[in-house]
Amino acid sequence: MFTGLKRLEYRGYDSSGMCIDAIDAPTPTGRRESASGDGLANGISADGTSSSNGRVEDRSSPIIVKCPGKIENLENLTAEYVQQHNLDTSKVYKHHVAISHTRWATHGVPSSINAHPQVSDANADFVVVHNGIITNYQALKDILKKNGETFVSETDTETIPKLLKFAYDSMTAEAGSGEAQVPFPKLVMEVLTKLEGAYALLIKSRHYPGELVACKRGSPMIVGIKEGPDGSSSSSSKVSSGGLGRAASITRLRDQYNDSHWTGALEAWVASDASAVIEHTKRVVVLEDNDVLHIVGGGYGIYNTRQADVETAVPRRLQVLQLEVDQIMKGGYEHYMQKEIHEQPEAITQSMRGRVKQQKSAEQGNPYLQQRIKLGGLVETRDTIRRSRRIMFVACGTSYHAALAARQTVEEMVEVPVVLELASDLLDRCCPIFRDDTCVFVSQSGETADTLRALEYAKARGALCVGITNTVGSAISRATHCGIHQNAGYEIGVASTKAYTSQIICITMMALALAEDSISKRERRDAIIDELGALPDKMRSFMQVQDVAMKELAAQLKDSNSLLFFARGNNYATALEAALKCKEVALIHSEGILAGEMKHGPLALVDEHLPIVVVATRDSMYKKMESVIQQLLARSARLIILCTAGDATMQEYAKRSDCQLIEVPGTVEPLQPILNIVPLQLLAYHMTVLRGHNVDQPRNLAKSVTVTD
Ligand code: AGP
Repeated sequence: MFTGLKRLEYRGYDSSGMCIDAIDAPTPTGRRESASGDGLANGISADGTSSSNGRVEDRSSPIIVKCPGKIENLENLTAEYVQQHNLDTSKVYKHHVAISHTRWATHGVPSSINAHPQVSDANADFVVVHNGIITNYQALKDILKKNGETFVSETDTETIPKLLKFAYDSMTAEAGSGEAQVPFPKLVMEVLTKLEGAYALLIKSRHYPGELVACKRGSPMIVGIKEGPDGSSSSSSKVSSGGLGRAASITRLRDQYNDSHWTGALEAWVASDASAVIEHTKRVVVLEDNDVLHIVGGGYGIYNTRQADVETAVPRRLQVLQLEVDQIMKGGYEHYMQKEIHEQPEAITQSMRGRVKQQKSAEQGNPYLQQRIKLGGLVETRDTIRRSRRIMFVACGTSYHAALAARQTVEEMVEVPVVLELASDLLDRCCPIFRDDTCVFVSQSGETADTLRALEYAKARGALCVGITNTVGSAISRATHCGIHQNAGYEIGVASTKAYTSQIICITMMALALAEDSISKRERRDAIIDELGALPDKMRSFMQVQDVAMKELAAQLKDSNSLLFFARGNNYATALEAALKCKEVALIHSEGILAGEMKHGPLALVDEHLPIVVVATRDSMYKKMESVIQQLLARSARLIILCTAGDATMQEYAKRSDCQLIEVPGTVEPLQPILNIVPLQLLAYHMTVLRGHNVDQPRNLAKSVTVTD
């Protein structure tokens, strides 16, 4: 399990935990011990109160170890536990269900208590690990509290084991004694009907020893299947066909392998990513949304809650992975940068998950008071931000470009002066900052030294400090007064790609949330929110096509000494960001130029050799950009025009002047930079590969710049 967790480290996490069965676990004195009063640090004791070591333990309860920080801490804490309790780690069990998790905090700080597994009660009747976010957890929590439940953690996840226990107790009481126990997957399905949001769940229970239920909706999950080492453990004989039940109706391994291959024992590895299981087996089943996997008695069954007959197992193909661990970590892509560019539709979806409400329910009360953007981290400071003298965005590199791309949206929505500052320059100038300023610090890593110093500087001057970071628990997220987590997933490539588009989304959501009460802005707000919902699919729709097209274009441009990017308005950021990508990974000199400045100098560079990318998508800058194109063509410039798909005017220029087009789908102006940057990221990526440079670790650069000067 620890190796599996380490394989997932690249995604980022702030705490971890695990749960194993406590069968026959002796105490140092040879006596089973009760959970309370074990006197160790940082965790939850069996009586559900905060105690010291992150373990829940009881006569028949499983062993749970949890802690903040690195997986190494979890290994050490577990080793300590094993030693103190004199556990025999060489003992082999016929059945054992163990679950583990790395958590990336969304609800509640990184701590032992908030780490997963989460449990239903002091005896840990139900134990759950969860990836995703339960959006209606507050309502569920309120209902459970009314029924006398108390919550130990701040997580949304804790509602799930509590609901399971509640359902189990009610169903058992209803059935009465003598009745067969409700099957584990059926119990889980009952609880799933109450959950809204995204999840991948692993659930074990002392009421169902030797069984595991896993299920997913919106979050990835696979199960790796391996024959166990103990060929004699032929539990297959216990398995019968029929309805959904404890040992019934499971898809037997015998059905998956041919009989001669069958040895009778099963090891199943359930994980959110193949990299965690590949060392054990390459045979995997990829679970689909609403699937419920039941592992029991040496076999497994997969059901689907959307099927008419939920009690009949659904067929899922057992696939043999051809990839090695390193390739799997890269999701089958050659490089992390490439993977992260392609992950953007999913990354921006994650950034919006649970925060953007797509349905407009006019019938539900006053439509002017509808809350369509929910940013938990800004609830308490929203009014202060709106009353600020100015909003100052502070960042470096790509994060600065993200603030630039969204500046106009903040100005338009909030109607407060917005200024942008490069963190190092702000410090160099000792820029005046006042108590009634709101300073927003944008940083993917949350550790950039310049941004962090600027944060300390602004804080010392009494400004309200807001953080937008992709790293929970990072220095910037800890030091700011409030903020927004990007939730874009871990970014490994030094060249920031998915973090950039997700930052624009976060700043846009912030602007929309701040304009919530404005009736005059309502129509515009709604239009942007509607388009936010459509954005991931729009991005998906052209990703593959542009990947091929940009590879071809990269082959034509790879030997250029220099590249220029012209744009204006929101897309000035697109020009700067595209140029930065070409510099930092393709190692080609490139400049992003504000097209309005063209005639004040840069025009002198134009000739028939220098490739120039002009961003001219259909927005309020379109006419001005058309005039830029005409001026450049009049000087025989070598043009590549990035335009809205199907733009007949641009197609005509392309035909007449033999310039190339990069076509992207149209969207509302504030979001257009999010789509426009994607082909340019791909262009930089392919040029880097063709030029033979290191894509993920460009020379002289580091992912987190933790030094100043
Ligand atoms: C982006 O491709 C660069 N690696 C770099 O400009 C980066 O964005 C900058 O160092 C800021 O990093 P941060 O977002 O982690 O603060």
